[in-house]
Amino acid sequence: MTDQTLTPAAFAERLGANADLVGGTLERMLGAQTLPGEISRPARLLEAMRYAALEGGKRLRPFLTLEAARLFGVEGEGVLRAAAAVEMLHCYSLAHDDLPAMDDDDLRRGRPTLHKAFDEATAILAGDALLTYAFDALADPATHADGAVRAELCLGLARASGLGGMAGGQALDLAAESVGRPLPQIAIERLQAMKTGALLRFAVEAGAIVAGASQADRLALAAYGKALGAAFQIADDILDAEGDDATLGKRAGKDAGRNKATLVGALGIIGARRLLGKFVEQAEAALAPFGARADVLIAAARFTASRDR
Ligand code: IPE
Ligand code: IPE
Ligand code: MG
Ligand code: MG
Ligand code: MG
Repeated sequence: MTDQTLTPAAFAERLGANADLVGGTLERMLGAQTLPGEISRPARLLEAMRYAALEGGKRLRPFLTLEAARLFGVEGEGVLRAAAAVEMLHCYSLAHDDLPAMDDDDLRRGRPTLHKAFDEATAILAGDALLTYAFDALADPATHADGAVRAELCLGLARASGLGGMAGGQALDLAAESVGRPLPQIAIERLQAMKTGALLRFAVEAGAIVAGASQADRLALAAYGKALGAAFQIADDILDAEGDDATLGKRAGKDAGRNKATLVGALGIIGARRLLGKFVEQAEAALAPFGARADVLIAAARFTASRDR
């Protein structure tokens, strides 16, 4: 049987297996033992980082990294470290996104948000340290023997997560709350491509970079990651409008109240669903060059759209 028959249950199982693998890598990285050049690991800060990174979460980004590399027959410690780096970056972004100065949320992954479980300063610092650790993980020779590959990973993550990517997108997201008129669809799509799409796209590309994929294959995967990233945030916004706290593990129904710029707001639920379907189709089409080898990534795109949390 090939992946062509990947059912939602089989996909969930594979997502869980990859989550366990990357969870083990994160557990090892976030241990008490210092790395060469570190002076000490303050226990409370480490505990906060572990709280943010080790429990819960779908682990979709590291899944994409691992499966993109598998497309080229590559697995093992190096790609697991790259996948863990992407997840650390993501967990940092959630910790800061939930802060009172940003979305001011008290529930994440079914538990109190980091600043509620600890305190605001600790949540800021744990986010800072996770962000930094992501680059540490990529720059370490344990991730890849070739320094040029490691530099490419660092550069890719920086471009996806900084000024012109996630951090920039988060700034636009917050600014849009107070403009007083709805943003045009194109501006919302760009904002979302930055705050969410860029990291999902890099998660896919990272697997291809570690695996030494050809330029053509990397371009195809980047197109897939871009479309999947767009789909992901629309689905998140639909879940905010239609989901419930218990299933989501975070507060539902907050975007409209906070005047967030979302495609649900701009197009309504039906219009947002239609666009979501279009992005999933785009994601699937981008994988055509890989044929049936990419069925697990097709299943990931479908999961992105149909998930309930
Ligand atoms: C939530 O991401 C934040 C967004 C970028 C919309 P996920 O839905 O992937 O969160 P976890 O990791 O599963 O908790
Ligand atoms: C978060 O988007 C994007 C990042 C964390 C970069 P949201 O603010 O919509 O995510 P949730 O709904 O709080 O998970
Ligand atoms: Mg936000
Ligand atoms: Mg939020
Ligand atoms: Mg949201």
